[in-house]
Amino acid sequence: MNYDTQMLSISSEDIDKAAMLLREGKVVGIPTETVYGLAADALNESAVRDIFKAKGRPADNPLIVHIGELDDIYKYITEMPENAHRLAEAFWPGPLTMVLPKKDIVPYVTSGGLDTVGIRFPVHPTAREIIRRSGSALAAPSANLSGSPSPTSAKHVLSDMNGRIPAIVNGGECTVGVESTVVSFDERGRVVLLRPGFVSLEDMQSIVGAENVICAKGVTEELPDGERVMSPGMKYKHYSPKANVTVLCGDMDKFTEYVSAHSGDGVYSMLFGADSEGYPFPFACYGDTADEQAHRLFAVLRELDEAGARQIYARCPDRRGVGLAVYNRLLRAAGFEVVNL
Ligand code: TXA
Ligand code: MG
Repeated sequence: MNYDTQMLSISSEDIDKAAMLLREGKVVGIPTETVYGLAADALNESAVRDIFKAKGRPADNPLIVHIGELDDIYKYITEMPENAHRLAEAFWPGPLTMVLPKKDIVPYVTSGGLDTVGIRFPVHPTAREIIRRSGSALAAPSANLSGSPSPTSAKHVLSDMNGRIPAIVNGGECTVGVESTVVSFDERGRVVLLRPGFVSLEDMQSIVGAENVICAKGVTEELPDGERVMSPGMKYKHYSPKANVTVLCGDMDKFTEYVSAHSGDGVYSMLFGADSEGYPFPFACYGDTADEQAHRLFAVLRELDEAGARQIYARCPDRRGVGLAVYNRLLRAAGFEVVNL
């Protein structure tokens, strides 16, 4: 792991270079609509091991396998419940990952030792082109160092992965900004939400019916120590900037009052935007709508780190729709430290 990391463009020539590296079993940073991924051939065990090394990721945390064509899914899974078909029809290609029983061809290194595999069919044109030209499916976790905020630009990837991987494809800023929605299916075929994302709980309920979508424990609250998790990613502290993050729930007056009693060197506030006029303390805005907040969240956490923040007080987002994904990520960045004002 001592590369002179190359920044590639999205030109056809550069996409060929990226695909060539992937065919050689190398790890490449690639753009997707959600966040940047650290991609390698999902079927090549040594390539997949290199992803874990570059990221510093625990080996029991499985990777998502990205496919370039819908029909490719049957190469990697043994069965697809009816509700999975309905979700695929509604939301693929797009920011949705479905955990399904894996075929033997998917190595256990990729699936983190599980008999299931998370499959995603991304909509990002460059991601799909890279997958197609690589000639395989690509295992790709978010392209951050394990534990730090996910990268939503090529610059973020470079800052975490410089020297650790041979190349990054620069596809500009990710539109969504938070990672894909992850679901599995229970024994009755109901959809189990493991990680909220841009495809919201409400979106899925509208397709398969509210009675057919359940939310796994741990999406909005901290799991007790030792509790069995349905998705290994749930048990790790995630998305954390270097600064300590605290989520403050309550109106803007109470928020300002709280921060003024706790202000000091290195203390920053994360505001929505509309609430920032005349705000007397150092702050950054992460957006007024849930879509904006999802798009900006990780970038703002990184910016505040660069500004030297030691403590960040964040306004608590609305949890409806995409807001649930924003809340879920912020809660993990805060190590579940929430103050109800
Ligand atoms: O948007 C995304 O999903 C991005 C882009 C690059 O596609 N990828 C991503 O991967 O966020 P990662 O590895 O950072 O997060 C994958 C999550 C983890 O929490 C993992 O535990 C869960 O999905 N996961 C993957 N396979 C699973 C499986 N077989 N069973 C349960 N959970 C699984
Ligand atoms: Mg991740």
